[in-house]
Amino acid sequence: MDILYCKGYIKKRYPIYISEITEFSDLFSLLPEKPRKFVIIDAAVRSNFTHLAESLATSPDYIISIEASEENKSFESLEAVLQKLFTLKPDKSDVVTVVGGGVLLNLGGLAASLVTRGLRFYYVPTTLTAQIDVCMGSKQAVNFNGAKNWIGVFNDPEFCYINARFTDTQTEADIRSQSIEGIKLCLASNKKQFEASMADIENISTSTMHRSNFITNMIKAKIEVVAEDLLEKQHGVSMLYGHTVGHAIEMLAPQEVNHGIGVGIGMLVAARISRALGLANEDLVAVHLGVLQKLGLPTTIPATLKPEAILKQLHYDKKNFNGKTPFVLLKQVGEMAKNGEGYLIPVEEQQILKALKESY
Ligand SMILES: NC(=O)c1ccc[n+]([C@@H]2O[C@H](COP(=O)([O-])OP(=O)(O)OC[C@H]3O[C@@H](n4cnc5c(N)ncnc54)[C@H](O)[C@@H]3O)[C@@H](O)[C@H]2O)c1
Repeated sequence: MDILYCKGYIKKRYPIYISEITEFSDLFSLLPEKPRKFVIIDAAVRSNFTHLAESLATSPDYIISIEASEENKSFESLEAVLQKLFTLKPDKSDVVTVVGGGVLLNLGGLAASLVTRGLRFYYVPTTLTAQIDVCMGSKQAVNFNGAKNWIGVFNDPEFCYINARFTDTQTEADIRSQSIEGIKLCLASNKKQFEASMADIENISTSTMHRSNFITNMIKAKIEVVAEDLLEKQHGVSMLYGHTVGHAIEMLAPQEVNHGIGVGIGMLVAARISRALGLANEDLVAVHLGVLQKLGLPTTIPATLKPEAILKQLHYDKKNFNGKTPFVLLKQVGEMAKNGEGYLIPVEEQQILKALKESY
């Protein structure tokens, strides 16, 4: 097992164990013997990986299964988990292993953080998104009254265990689109890991070995961002690259455009804006097109969406100021354009519209 370390919010750092693509025996060896071990697990993962939850918990009664979905990332689910934990009477020495995608890590991490002012917990992320993104950054949260991640705390797991084997049961389409959050970070702030990942991206949806290499490179990139700017005020805005237009398209056409597809197209539009503003040259646009093509992801906005409708949707962007929409823009791969002390560049509507129209 390789070990990387991620800066925490409470802890100075916590280990991220990157396993060989084996079965999960090395995970079991990381668990302490003595305290009682509870498990909060995604119901789909529990049925895909039989006996896993039973091997992680002290007793089958200590396993809490949750159907993972954005709707279930709710106060009601949190309360259900807390009620179940209450009946089990955990004490400070007990531990909780949280197993699943981003929804489970956020929900289970929050529940563990609240019980008796904080039980120790371990992260076992099982989706690509959870492995390359969610398990670093210390955010534990659930949605509330339609507001995303409205109830939450910052807290850190004791460790995180990564095994690419978990992602074998995801669909190829999910793996390709979920890879974008990692690629986005590297395009915006880490040329070295971007270049390292290029050897693997064509095969990430079909080869566990390539996916495992990719995951390790993406974790290294995210660890660097978290170390510099955990609260995403400065350099950490690289996390937002592609999200301005991406989020608008995703909101307008949720059936056709999932989050990864939206961010992929959003990055391409941002690269075109960079070029139009003279911040970058044509090469940057070509790199973006090349990555999306290698991943087999869409490179155009769905024809059903009119550019004016996307522009209108951008008016709701919380970051808007003086009638302009702030974008994360790149000068080149791995380098964001600066605006004074910050990295958000206000862009005129006409420039956005032009870049949108080029993207059909
Ligand atoms: N920093 C952060 O905390 C952070 C960062 C990014 C995303 N998020 C959050 O993460 C969530 C999205 O994460 P996600 O995409 O993992 O969603 P998810 O947890 O809802 O998982 C998506 C689907 O995949 C299933 N699944 C989980 N593991 C699987 C596996 N190994 N094989 C097959 N199916 C599996 C789940 O049951 C679910 O149906 C959002 O709520 C988002 O807000 C948080």
